[in-house]
Amino acid sequence: MNVDLSVEIGGLRLKNPVLTASGTFGYGIEFADYLDLSRLGGIVTKGLSLLPRRGNPPPRIVETPSGLLNAIGLENVGLENFARDILPALAKTGTRVIVNFFGDSVEEYAQMAAELDGLGGVDALELNISCPNVKAGGMAFGTRPESAAAVTAAVRARTGKTLIVKLSPACDAVAVARAVAGAGADAVSCMNTIPAMAIDPATRRPRLANVTGGLSGPAVRPVAVKMTFDVARAVTIPVVGVGGIMSGDDALEFVMAGASGVEVGTANFTDPCAAVRVLDGIEAYCARHRVREYRTLIGSLLTDGAPTSCG
Ligand SMILES: Cc1cc2nc3c(=O)[nH]c(=O)nc-3n(C[C@H](O)[C@H](O)[C@H](O)COP(=O)(O)O)c2cc1C
Repeated sequence: MNVDLSVEIGGLRLKNPVLTASGTFGYGIEFADYLDLSRLGGIVTKGLSLLPRRGNPPPRIVETPSGLLNAIGLENVGLENFARDILPALAKTGTRVIVNFFGDSVEEYAQMAAELDGLGGVDALELNISCPNVKAGGMAFGTRPESAAAVTAAVRARTGKTLIVKLSPACDAVAVARAVAGAGADAVSCMNTIPAMAIDPATRRPRLANVTGGLSGPAVRPVAVKMTFDVARAVTIPVVGVGGIMSGDDALEFVMAGASGVEVGTANFTDPCAAVRVLDGIEAYCARHRVREYRTLIGSLLTDGAPTSCG
C-alpha cells in the first residue's frame, strides 16, 4: 500500500514526519556515510550561537539506566563558520534544514534570527529557550511564560521563516506553550532534556564536570509523551514530539498524543540509522493498519474520558 507520509508543520512542508533532534546528529552531513539523508523529513542542527563556543570540560556525557546524562555546554562552531563551511553541503542533502539556535540575551537571539533569515538553504528555525538569560541572573528564558514570550516575539519580528520553539520540561509547559504561541511561534517542540545529576559514591564527586546536566533517552519518553499530550490540547499550533524515541511505535505514541512530527535524539548514539528505522516503523504501521495518510493519526489517541488524578 502506498502511504502518504507528508505533513506540514507551521507552514513547513515535510515529506515525512521524522526529524533528527538537535545536538544528537551533529550538523547532519557527518552522518552521510551511514544513511541516505534525503530519506529524512528534516535535519535539526546542533544548537548554534553567534560566536563559536567550546562547551563544558569533560566528562560531559554519562550513561544512566535507559538514559543519557549530558552537559555538553552548547559547544558549536558559531554562525559564520556554519554558514560558510557546513550549510552549502547540508542544503544539498535533499532534506529540510532546521537550524536550532540560542543566545545569551534577547538581543542576541534577535540578531541570530535576522542573520539566519537571510541564509538560503535554511528552511526553518528551532529556538532553544532552555538557556540562561545572562542579563536576568542566569535563569533560563524558557522557565517563565513572560521571558519565553519576550524572546519569541523578538525573534518573530526578525524572521519570516517557520519558527519552532523548543520547550523545556523544567517549567509549566502548557503556560509557556500558550505564551510562545501568542508571541508568534509557528510550532513548538516537546521537549528538551530534563535537569538531572549523577554522583559517584566512590569518589563523592559528580559524574559530570559541570555537576548537573540534562537527561534524555528512553527513560524520559513517558514524561515527553505526557507533555506533548498536555501541550497539544492547549495550543492550536502544531507540536513536534521529542524524547526517547527509539522505534516507530515510540514515535507513534507522540503522534497519537497530538504531535504532527517527531525528532529522534539519543537513539542516534546507539544506531546512526535510528531515524530511518523510526520512519520505516511508522510506514509499516500505516500499511499494517490500512492508514493511507499518516496525518490522520495525529491526535488519534482513544481514551475513555479525561485524565483525572494519578496513582
Ligand atoms: C548530547 C546532547 C546534546 C544536545 N544538544 C542540544 C542542543 O544543542 N540544542 C537543543 O535544543 N537540544 C539539545 N539536546 C536535546 C535533544 O535535542 C532532545 O530534545 C533531548 O535529548 C530529548 O530527546 P532524546 O531523548 O530523543 O534524546 C541535546 C541532547 C543531547 C543528548
